[in-house]
Amino acid sequence: MIRSENLRSGYIQDDVEEYLYRLLPERDAVIGEIEKYAEEHRVPIIGPAVARLMMLLVQISGTKRIFEMGSAIGYSTIWLARAAGPQAEVFYTDGNPENARRAQEYFRAAGVGKRIRVQVGDALELVKKTAGKFDFIFNDVDKHQYPDAMRAALPKLKRGGLFVTDNTLWSGKAARPAAGDDKNTRGVQEFNRLVYASKELFPVLIPLRDGVTVCRKN
Ligand SMILES: C[S@@+](CC[C@H](N)C(=O)[O-])C[C@H]1O[C@@H](n2cnc3c(N)ncnc32)[C@H](O)[C@@H]1O
Repeated sequence: MIRSENLRSGYIQDDVEEYLYRLLPERDAVIGEIEKYAEEHRVPIIGPAVARLMMLLVQISGTKRIFEMGSAIGYSTIWLARAAGPQAEVFYTDGNPENARRAQEYFRAAGVGKRIRVQVGDALELVKKTAGKFDFIFNDVDKHQYPDAMRAALPKLKRGGLFVTDNTLWSGKAARPAAGDDKNTRGVQEFNRLVYASKELFPVLIPLRDGVTVCRKN
């Protein structure tokens, strides 16, 4: 069973999606607790299928310095921090201080608190302000902000670094004409157009869950 309804893609056949999630190994206690909390309180999280993709990308790229834009209660942050190992530095950002408070409890319980820097505020501003460049930037802010998130993130990404963005199929709505007032779908569509038009990026949109776009910076 897919535990949380918000893990459903909306465009993959239900039995195929169930199958994909049934293949996944059980998660440890902390990750399991966050998945349960997210389901009960309808907190959107990437879920374990996308989390495993992120873990793989971090590990094969040897990523150590990560900036996350839109971290909520820290589910994706813990997967990233574990993947990058004890020498990693992972920047958590969220606009909601209550999310940050809860996330910090989970970071301690997961044993990754020392490698995570928590910042509360606008992730688009924070990525510009934080010193240095990053090996990996994960973008999961509000969808209407995606084009601006890309513009803010790219100058902060090292050459050869990865810029990963969740929800780039947006329940399949990205593929269909968007209503004029549907600013989230329009944001995702414009983002997809921009990354594929960019000379700086090599993007691949992976139709896993809600769509994940992985870009390497040239
Ligand atoms: C989809 S949730 C993030 C889920 C998280 N990445 C995970 O998978 O566990 C998006 C979060 O981004 C935050 N957010 C949206 N726009 C933001 C912005 N511009 N700056 C900081 N946080 C933002 C929201 O408060 C929300 O908690």
